[in-house]
Amino acid sequence: MAEIRLRGLVKAYPGQKAPAVERVSLDIPDGEFTVLLGPSGCGKTTLLRMVAGLELPTSGQVVIGDRDVTYLPPRERNLSMVFQSYAVFPHRKVRANIGFGLAMRGMPRDEIERKVAWAADLLQLGDFLDRYPAKLSGGQRQRVAVARAIVVDADVLLMDEPLSNLDALLRLGFRAELKKLVSELGTTTLYVTHDQVEALSLGDRVAVMRDGALQQVASPLEVYDTPTNEFVGGFIGSPPMNFLTGAVVNGHVDLGGPMLPTPPALASFAGRTVRLGVRAEAIGLVEESAPGAVPATVEVFEPLGSAVLLTTTVAGQQLKVQAPATFRVQPGETLWLNVPEQHQRWFDPETAMALETRDT
Ligand SMILES: Nc1ncnc2c1ncn2[C@@H]1O[C@H](COP(=O)(O)OP(=O)(O)O)[C@@H](O)[C@H]1O
Ligand SMILES: [Mg+2]
Repeated sequence: MAEIRLRGLVKAYPGQKAPAVERVSLDIPDGEFTVLLGPSGCGKTTLLRMVAGLELPTSGQVVIGDRDVTYLPPRERNLSMVFQSYAVFPHRKVRANIGFGLAMRGMPRDEIERKVAWAADLLQLGDFLDRYPAKLSGGQRQRVAVARAIVVDADVLLMDEPLSNLDALLRLGFRAELKKLVSELGTTTLYVTHDQVEALSLGDRVAVMRDGALQQVASPLEVYDTPTNEFVGGFIGSPPMNFLTGAVVNGHVDLGGPMLPTPPALASFAGRTVRLGVRAEAIGLVEESAPGAVPATVEVFEPLGSAVLLTTTVAGQQLKVQAPATFRVQPGETLWLNVPEQHQRWFDPETAMALETRDT
């Protein structure tokens, strides 16, 4: 096992306006599971391929353990990789597919048998060892790819959207299995996905990327609760974080009529515009007479089973509110809301960066 250290990695493809990867520095401690999360086209695969050695960086450094591997070919990096497309050999049986990397390394046959049996058992492929991939489901094929990646005792495991070709139910089941498996193996893992739920559920840490650059690297709960900027707040969560624009006046934030008491840390923003970020489930439903109650007009009522999602407007600004499953309301009605101070996250509209109101 080994830690991964990325130093100022840049990848600029010829003819591209902006680099695909822009000065990414990231440390992944030994044994940690880090998820690289971002929208399609933000440079995740390019970054992973530079770690793997499939792509040369324009500048920067890749260090695995105590070796600078930036210019080493993939086979000298002792890593294994799982791709989005299953990439199994169609003309080899499952057994030979899983053992492929071991055979390439010249491992004795009986030892290969033992390791293949071990991986097949972990991935519930024991009954399929003598089948060809064409006779497997998509989920089973991806299990073969994962089994092949884990048998080789690599220092580092790299996975690029391995679940995204599976249907929703299978994805959910395999996600939990993968999490258990990787935590038992303890292999340093870098996992790429555009799916924010997957990122939160799997990662010890989540590295959020946008336009080639890292935005925030933190635990799943930190990126969810305290996004570093509006992009992260808006990308993570379903629904995304709400944003309401207001002006700081006379100890209040004026949301265009409704007033919120200004948190002490916003005092220096008197006279300026700020943006309030708040999660749908953090908003409380209160009586009209409650202190600081904010009126909201219900536009859409959506029962989701486990909860009710309300699309409302507060002085013309849209606000999504999550209410208990049994809550009933009609479009057009007025609700009274409360935004608890501990769930308020404030942003500077000019930079879209969070104002660190909680850490001061
Ligand atoms: N071989 C390549 N040549 C030129 N541009 C590329 C190449 N590979 C990727 N790109 C571009 O780099 C950007 C990042 O791509 P990619 O790393 O695949 O993003 P992601 O995996 O996050 O969807 C995209 O704009 C893509 O079009
Ligand atoms: Mg990709």
